[in-house]
Amino acid sequence: MDERPIGVFDSGVGGLTVARALIDLMPNESILYFGDSARGPYGPRRSEEVRLFSTQIAEFLVSEGVKMIVIACNSASSAALDAVRAVSDDVPVLEVVLPAVRAAVKATRNRRIGVIGTALTVSSGAYDAAVAGTKENVSLMSAACPRFVEFVERGETSGEEVVELGREYLAPLQAADVDTLILGCTHYPLLSGVIHFVMGHDVVLISSADETARDAYALLTERGAFREKDGSPEHRFISSGDAALFQALGTRFLGPEIGAVQERLLGGVR
Ligand code: DGL
Repeated sequence: MDERPIGVFDSGVGGLTVARALIDLMPNESILYFGDSARGPYGPRRSEEVRLFSTQIAEFLVSEGVKMIVIACNSASSAALDAVRAVSDDVPVLEVVLPAVRAAVKATRNRRIGVIGTALTVSSGAYDAAVAGTKENVSLMSAACPRFVEFVERGETSGEEVVELGREYLAPLQAADVDTLILGCTHYPLLSGVIHFVMGHDVVLISSADETARDAYALLTERGAFREKDGSPEHRFISSGDAALFQALGTRFLGPEIGAVQERLLGGVR
């Protein structure tokens, strides 16, 4: 038994889709969530910056006594996994790229997989490396969809404009005949209606949030590190940006569990 919280971090509110999946799968576990809203989004940033920010956040989470860190951000997972793992020998680190790739490789029938993500995620080549690492005979087609994040944050997940944008971004993936598409960005599960509508019924959508939560479950099971069964969990949400904004936007991503949000700047940098 291990009463400590699971540390989860993201560039802002997007990682709350991963927190949601963690809470659904492990309702007794406490979550300590850090959203770097003051410095996010990470998608348009350079990988060196994201490595620095991610390291600072991981150090903070370790200092708060988490039992595991989940990098709930595709951009940070792509650019900073090794840097975050270097922060502590004792705290295991999970990320969102590999779990999604594993699920996609299992799901594909025609061996053609697509992934959509931020500019940083796509340019990092992290998904290409993860697919190559499976040694499966599959091809991967990537597309950056940077403006999707803006639409989700504005709450615009339906309507002509977002469908049109979806058609534009997803056209190369349709042309490549992918039958499985990884939603390689924390915001995209909120656009799965649009993405499914544009891609059609035959394309399987893979959410990295659900797959990552299953990995976290497996790790806690292997380590015997779940909390007491009937202890009620305590979730804490911390933002480097405006707490009220985080709470308002975060409720859309997570639901009512969000409660009060604390503000905290890391590294003194905005
Ligand atoms: N959380 C980010 C990701 O999954 C999306 C938002 C951002 O660009 O920071 O890549």
